[in-house]
Formats: sequence, structure tokens, C-alpha cells
Amino acid sequence: MIYRLPLACTCFVATVIRAVYASRQVKFDVRTSFSENYVTTRIIPVDVFDLVVFGATGDLSQRKLIPALFHRDEQGQLPPEARIIGTSRRAMSDAEFRAFAKDALEKFVEEKSRTDELMERFLGRLSYVSAEATLDDGWLKLEQVLGQHPERIRVFYLAVGPDLFGPICDRLGTHKLVTPQSRVVVEKPVGKSGASADALNDEIGKVFPEPAIYRIDHYLGKETVQNLMALRFANALFEPLWNGMHIDHVQITVAETLGVETRAGYYDTSGALRDMVQNHMLQLLCLVAMEPPSAMDADAVRDEKLKVLKSLKPITAADIEHSVVRGQYRGGPSNNGQLKSYLEDLGNPDSRTETFVALKAEINSWRWANVPFYLRTGKRLAERVSEIVVEFKPIPYNVFQATAGSLKPNRLLIRLQPDEGVELFLSIKEPGPGGLRFKHVPLDMSFAEAFAGRQPEAYERLLTDVVRGNQTLFMRRDEVAAAWRYIDPILEAWRDSSEPPKPYQSGSWGPTAAISLIERDQRTWYEPHVE
Ligand code: BG6
Repeated sequence: MIYRLPLACTCFVATVIRAVYASRQVKFDVRTSFSENYVTTRIIPVDVFDLVVFGATGDLSQRKLIPALFHRDEQGQLPPEARIIGTSRRAMSDAEFRAFAKDALEKFVEEKSRTDELMERFLGRLSYVSAEATLDDGWLKLEQVLGQHPERIRVFYLAVGPDLFGPICDRLGTHKLVTPQSRVVVEKPVGKSGASADALNDEIGKVFPEPAIYRIDHYLGKETVQNLMALRFANALFEPLWNGMHIDHVQITVAETLGVETRAGYYDTSGALRDMVQNHMLQLLCLVAMEPPSAMDADAVRDEKLKVLKSLKPITAADIEHSVVRGQYRGGPSNNGQLKSYLEDLGNPDSRTETFVALKAEINSWRWANVPFYLRTGKRLAERVSEIVVEFKPIPYNVFQATAGSLKPNRLLIRLQPDEGVELFLSIKEPGPGGLRFKHVPLDMSFAEAFAGRQPEAYERLLTDVVRGNQTLFMRRDEVAAAWRYIDPILEAWRDSSEPPKPYQSGSWGPTAAISLIERDQRTWYEPHVE
């Protein structure tokens, strides 16, 4: 039995009490009491801006940036004068770029949003300048286009490989395109190690001051990730319990069913540790573990996240075998035949790049002493699911008879995707006669149900935050450096090890060693269908 409670987090305390009380009844549904009076969105238009997307004809632009901007336009958040200027080395006319964007919208935006009027308005904002990052070609044209409105907010979005960050920033500087109102957005990965991240940050920093640099980690723009902060800091219920006295451990899983697809070239130089753990997963860990910031402003939040990163217990070469598992997918059955292995997808039989990582992270602090954070991420796993599980300690003493069955500890599940929402698992008496029997049931806050309509994509929020000049959800330079300080020794230990990544079958939950990693501590990975 599931008690569904789609609701705003701020109503959480009252709801828990009502739900526990109501659990004595067979059916309980408070959906209507929340959905009627809840305002789902507040649209505040941003200031007029010119956005220049470098790498405008690439995958990120097609799948994420163009659709995200379209949706913000649909919601009335882009002022009529705002312009989007696509740039890449490809020669293209404005009309061809608009056709490219139209095609992207047809693929990645639902038909019902694409009215003729809106399509025309959005595509009318687009123009194109062909420019070579490392040559002078095209830059004068960009100067001309931007020079038409020198006073506007300018956003330079570098949707290109990190090797082009330096050359592009350099050209932006020499062509005097960087005004006091300018910002630069860089995609992860920022570097491949602490040293290369430093070098990259230095290059960007020669042209843009730190308050104008927006290092994107799109996980921070996900609705549920932001809700994690709301859950913790807008409710009195959790904070007193949010420590090692009451929490047994935390699990963070980001599992994907897809393999490396068309990105094998990039991925093989990265691997799951750099691609997912150094940024997305450590950022999630920070949001769970950080102290309450003094205010919801960029530096206050980032100062607290930095403290967590600095408190991570280093994983040394000696601990690596016990604390980290790396895996690489093999083939496996699928609905339409046999899936290829990573090595086949890549076309290189010798690669030792990991497509899976599980690790046990520990935080040296009073709050988190003896509370392990188990992280796992991988490609070609059994399900596409991203979630954070906070498992509370068992009750100190069971007053019920053994016949009632064993009591499971309370568990808070924060699901990022799919079906974004939060579930709090409680033990209740199974309704009906026949003695006491317990059931572990979730109080379920499904955001999709609570807030009718489309859930905004992470990039929508993040792009408008850049225009507004709000850096709260972007990584500061010192955070990136601290994350690398944790990751670098693991990469070095792997490099020096003769042991290859452990194989796992496509469609499984990773190598068996990942199960041993947690079971060694008498714990198990949370499996949604086993509850
Ligand atoms: C990206 C990684 O940052 O995140 C990809 O480079 C990964 O390898 C992706 O697939 C996952 O993002 P999401 O939002 O689909 O979970």
C-alpha cells in the first residue's frame, strides 16, 4: 500500500503527522488538498541579453540548450529583444542555423508546445556567425553583431571541448568583446586532473574575473536537487536528525541504461570517475552533507560545500582496494539482439577506461563521523535511475513481539529521475485484524503529480540564472580544485595498478565487487523493487 502525498515541501511536517495518523485507515489520499491552492511557477522575465553559443551546432546545443531556451521563451521569460547567436567553425547562414534549431526543437520539444507563433518568435531571435576558435576568421563579424548593443548582458556559452576554452577566451579578450556585463559559461569537465583544471581556470581567469565565470554542473539545476535544499532548510523536521547520531549511512546512485553511444571518443579519455563522480556525484554529496548556509546566496552556499569537499577523508593507494570499485561493461542481451561491450563500442580492445565506479566516501567531521556515503554510477546498468537514499539508524529497542516481523529502519529517498520526488519510508501496522504485522510504506511526494505540467529541465533554470548573475548553482574555482584533490589520488592509484577494471554484464547492477563494497559493512544497496 502506498500513501501518495504530492505536496509542497513546506507542508511536509503537517503531512507526516496526518499521514501517520491516517495510516490506521485503509485508504488515505490528501492529493486534492494540496494541488488546488499550490502555485507551480512564477515567471519573472530576465533582463535583455545577447547569448553567444560556441559549439552551437553540437550535440549539447541541439539536445539541451536550444530546447531549454525555447521553453523559457514559451514561459514568457525572455524579453522580446533577447538574441541568441550561434557560433561554430562550420560555414552556415542565419537561415541554415534556424533550420538546424527548428529540427532540434522538433526532436526534443513536445509538439503541443511548438505553436507556429512561438516557433516563429523563437527562431527569429537566432542568428549565426561562423568563427574559428584558433584563427581570426569570423571574429570581426562577431564584434559587429555584439557591437550593436554594447550595454546588454553578454553571455558566452562554451559548449565545446575544454581544449578550446583557453583559445576562445583569449580571442574574446583580444577582440574586446568582454564588457563589465559579460559572463562566460563553461561545461564540465573542467580539466582532467587538479593540475589541468588549474591551468584551464588560469586561462579563463586571464579574461574573466571569478564572479563572471559560470562552471555548469547540470545536476545542480535539477528540480529535486534544489528541493533537497528546500527539504533540509525549509523544514524543521529533518535538521535535528541530520547527523551521525540518527543517520546510519547515505547512498547516492546515478545509473544509466545507455552505453557510451556516439561519445566513445570523449568518454575514453575521461571515464566514469571524471565524467560523473568528480562533479555530479560529489556535488550531490555536498548538498546532503553541508551545514546550513547563513543565507541562500552564492558564496554562503559554496563556502559550505567547499568545507565538505575539504573534509573528505582521502582515499590512499592502500585503501583503494577496499574503498573503490571500477568496472567496464561487457555485452549483454537486449530486446533487439545482443548489446556490444564497451571495447566493441569503442573499437579498441585494450582500453582500461572505467564505465562504472562505486566508492565509499567518508567525511571527517563531527556531523558525519562514522557515516559512510556510498556512491555508485555507471553506464549500461539495469535501470535509469538517480537517487539519494538517507538511511536512518534502527530503533534502539523493539517493544513489539517477534511475531510482528522485523522492523526496517526509516529511510528518506530523494529521487532525481525518473519520476522526481521524495519518499519517506515508515513502519506502520498493516491494516486489519489478525494481530500486529508491520509494513514499510513510503509517504510519497511525487513532484510530477503535485505540480501538474512539465518539469523544467536543469538547463532552463541554469541559463536564466546566468543571465540574472546568480552563481549559487555553479561551481566556484576552489570547489573544483578541492574535488580534484579527492579524485586525483584514485586516478593515480589506478594508473599505477596492473589490475584492469572489473567486467560487468550490460543490464546488471555492475561488478559483484560493488555489492561486496557495501555488504562488507553489513549494508545493502537500495533496490526500489525489493521494498
Ligand atoms: C553528463 C555526462 O554530464 O551527464 C554523461 O557527461 C551522462 O556521460 C550525463 O550521461 C547524465 O545526465 P542526466 O541528466 O541524463 O542524468
